[in-house]
Amino acid sequence: MVLSCLIDMTYLNHELTPSLLTINDLVAMKQVGEKISCLTAYDASFSALIDAAGIDVMLVGDSLGMVMQGHDTTLPVTINDMIYHSRCVTQARKRAFLIADLPFMTYTTPIVAAENAAQLMQVGGAQMVKLEGPHFEVVRFLVNLGVPVCAHLGLLPQSINQLGRYKVQGKAPGESAKIKSDALKLQEAGASLLVLECIPTELAQEITAELSIPVIGIGAGVECDGQVLVLYDMLDIGVCKRPRFSKNFMKGADSIFDAVFAYHQAVKAQQFPSIEHTF
Ligand code: KIV
Repeated sequence: MVLSCLIDMTYLNHELTPSLLTINDLVAMKQVGEKISCLTAYDASFSALIDAAGIDVMLVGDSLGMVMQGHDTTLPVTINDMIYHSRCVTQARKRAFLIADLPFMTYTTPIVAAENAAQLMQVGGAQMVKLEGPHFEVVRFLVNLGVPVCAHLGLLPQSINQLGRYKVQGKAPGESAKIKSDALKLQEAGASLLVLECIPTELAQEITAELSIPVIGIGAGVECDGQVLVLYDMLDIGVCKRPRFSKNFMKGADSIFDAVFAYHQAVKAQQFPSIEHTF
């Protein structure tokens, strides 16, 4: 009896890592209207720099397949690539919340998704996993197992071979209604965060207002609860063409740190994205 009390107290008094942001902090930011800054990260050096600049969330995105590995798409990225890069990022971060992508074909069933999410969290150190598309059953299953999930709607890069090219989604009335209803269903299924990629500002604004979970936009306008960019795009060092919704923050900056800090401040002040970066 005394021992079990002591164990309970130990849990109650123990924080994960005192300075590490949690999903509760991100929800609180949405509630008070503070914008959430997010960047992709793939290695320890950038992880330390991004963290020191005050960025709230780091995403180990499967975009690493394009910007680090030089592929045309994100499809060749494996779960082992994601685990490796997540571990590198985890080593160096002190404060930022860490999300890792489940890559193509690693969440084909709830069980497969659970096995791969376990690897990203246990070995990679991720606090949350992200998956593309309206996979309600998978999300529900992961959440019931204690895996926090970030959903991703709009432009889905893992579906590029169905889409044909990277383009704005949700412009037609039927398409926008589907994205909106999928977003609500994903929240109901237990997703705790949503990324909206490359959709019209008005649609992203409506979804952000309707959901209680934080919505992070990329090419989705300034009204989202936060913004994410691919690090190499905003530093203008990618091998791929920079998308219209991104901005070169190295322009006028004296260092990479200054560029990342300028992005963080621009997101917080709602100065990024501006009209030229939205649809
Ligand atoms: O892989 C990635 O970097 C992403 C962002 C573009 C949101 O999913």
